Amino acid sequence: MTSKQLSPEIEARIEALRPRFPVEHADKAMCIPVLTMAQEQFGHVDEEVCTLVATALNLPPAHVLGVATFYTMYNNKPVGRFHLQICTNIGRQILGAYDVWAQCKRRLGVGNHGTTEDDNITLSEVECIAACGYGPVAQIAERLKPDIPLYFENLDAERMTKILDALEEGRVPTELGS
Ligand code: FES
Repeated sequence: MTSKQLSPEIEARIEALRPRFPVEHADKAMCIPVLTMAQEQFGHVDEEVCTLVATALNLPPAHVLGVATFYTMYNNKPVGRFHLQICTNIGRQILGAYDVWAQCKRRLGVGNHGTTEDDNITLSEVECIAACGYGPVAQIAERLKPDIPLYFENLDAERMTKILDALEEGRVPTELGS
């Protein structure tokens, strides 16, 4: 039993969305958009939130959880004010992504999916954030601000230091983003 509930706004958006899909596929088709709405409401989509989404869409909870744990755009546990994701896929490794990744871990004092003690920054390692030509690359999302994430490309130690300085000051360094 959960005390959490999807907001009435989300319930209304689900009903508005439903007619856009063939009746027999609507619930599955709405899984990603409704997970996104739920993450906007709660800041993350853990098992409890996935169960709410499953109930709203008449889907098995395991199906919704499978989607939420597959895509790195979904946070499966609470994250800090800023979510800093670094791509360390093979092409980025060659370009120095592990140096940038190690720099972030050292500076923030956290491991993968760790959050700083002041709840300001969560650091995550990801496989691809669709900026494959410009590595090493990071994406920064700010909690409850869906118009951000921003991309930060061609990272090196100096650029990463400026980005981390700004995050620790409580701002996304948009002047350094792409
Ligand atoms: S492989 Fe890193 S952005 Fe695509």
